[in-house]
Amino acid sequence: MNPTQLIILDYGSQYTQLLSRRIRELGVYSEVVSFKITAKAIKETFSNLKGIILSGGPASVYEHDAYTVDPEIFDLNIPVLGVCYGLQLLCELFGGKVEQATNKEFGKAVLHLDDANSQLFADIKDQSLVWMSHADHITKLPPNFQQIAHSQASIAAIKHQEKPFYGIQFHAEVTHSEQGGTMLKNFLFLVCQAQPDWNMQDFIVKKVAEIKKVVGADQVILGLSGGVDSSVAAALIAKAIGKQLTCIFVDTGLLRKNEANQVMTKYQELFTMNIKLVDAKEKFFKALSGVAEPEAKRKIIGKNFVDIFNDEAKKMQKAKFLAQGTIYPDVIESSAHGHSSKTIKSHHNVGGLPKELKFELLEPLRNLFKDEVREVGRQLGLDNTIVDRHPFPGPGLGVRVIGEVTAEKVKILQEVDDIFISKLYEANLYQTVSQAFATILPVKTVGVMGDNRTYDYVVALRSVNTIDFMTATATHLPWDFLEAVVNEIINKVDGVNRVVYDITSKPPGTIEWE
Ligand code: XMP
Repeated sequence: MNPTQLIILDYGSQYTQLLSRRIRELGVYSEVVSFKITAKAIKETFSNLKGIILSGGPASVYEHDAYTVDPEIFDLNIPVLGVCYGLQLLCELFGGKVEQATNKEFGKAVLHLDDANSQLFADIKDQSLVWMSHADHITKLPPNFQQIAHSQASIAAIKHQEKPFYGIQFHAEVTHSEQGGTMLKNFLFLVCQAQPDWNMQDFIVKKVAEIKKVVGADQVILGLSGGVDSSVAAALIAKAIGKQLTCIFVDTGLLRKNEANQVMTKYQELFTMNIKLVDAKEKFFKALSGVAEPEAKRKIIGKNFVDIFNDEAKKMQKAKFLAQGTIYPDVIESSAHGHSSKTIKSHHNVGGLPKELKFELLEPLRNLFKDEVREVGRQLGLDNTIVDRHPFPGPGLGVRVIGEVTAEKVKILQEVDDIFISKLYEANLYQTVSQAFATILPVKTVGVMGDNRTYDYVVALRSVNTIDFMTATATHLPWDFLEAVVNEIINKVDGVNRVVYDITSKPPGTIEWE
């Protein structure tokens, strides 16, 4: 028997995937589908469907060509929960009225329960905070529906008097909704009677079958970076198709100490797949020579990387698919970049490879969040040093050598970084911080070692804590720990005589220095 299933019909809310993820966290398989899906297709595709959620969305249900839903889904005998736009759609379709509100509600609101006995509100205390984001509201309830909660400005939740149809105006899926998680749980387990019978192992089984089916007898190539996402994607695809997968690992010379060797050894040990190391160190150093401006460096690194990958890809005549470790936050981020948000830094690995490469994309992790990706990695047998790795920027140490990149400075930086990161592991601190690294400055300062004057480089250590990498605070690393790291760096790394610790938050700083 399939695990129990829930689907979310997507009307374009920025929270739709988050909602889907919350449901998976509660142990129920959930999938986001287009709002255009018909009741017939739902019946044919989902054999153990227990619930349907109509998501939020930016439009208004009373607009002339507003997105709607196949009304026959209400005859499937399956519980429905409308969230925000979804609630308004239920209201409109069942004969109520939705209009533009004079008091728009954006942000936190207090939820007053009008029917605390409703299944949706089991274990929910009155007057908890919920997150609202709407400009329209219900002005007339549809017949056979009752109001079960309100906020100061609107009807906040409704329920059909006989059928298991519910609607909420607020976003239960965001953490600002204090008891949102319990409400979703109530919908899943009390209203839909779903079972918490889904986990990442099922995801793997499902994806492996899907990859096998899609790829058939064709070949796949994947650019391996050694980071979490591309590693997990490679592991998953290797599990499905073994040697039909070829990973290309480009040694740009801007990787961490010994990274190229470690990746090659580890991957050859762990997986059945082809893996090809391209040594392009010289090429990158040459291209970067004399260039100091960060965006110029990024562009050069990105372009060279793409050229090398292209050349390798062209050699693989039979490859039909290009696999990428795209994960859900990349999808949001790159679509945000596509609109009006300003480019602070051009992340070359988002948005990817040139169009003239005629590959079909294979992105098996596209709907997962980072911690889900890590869990998949663990289940596939990747060890913690891969799965719990901090993010590493696409341009690598190229943006951590401030100013012009030279082989000498990269070498110094690799040693410094290795000491800092190893010490974090030793002190069991690595997993408690979100990202830690070192940067080398284009400045020499005077110091004294033994009885001699030194004139060497300054390096900066940075460690941040963050949830989404959009904002971050510097980690309060223990003073003794920092002192021990600094001592080891000064004693062991030639060319460095001063170490500073960066305590700038983001904003105003960014995480990387360039
Ligand atoms: P910033 O420095 O913008 O970094 O605060 C936020 C996160 O993005 C990483 N980063 C990059 N990742 N290509 C990448 O793939 C890049 O060019 C790049 N620049 C920054 C950074 O390490 C942090 O995790």
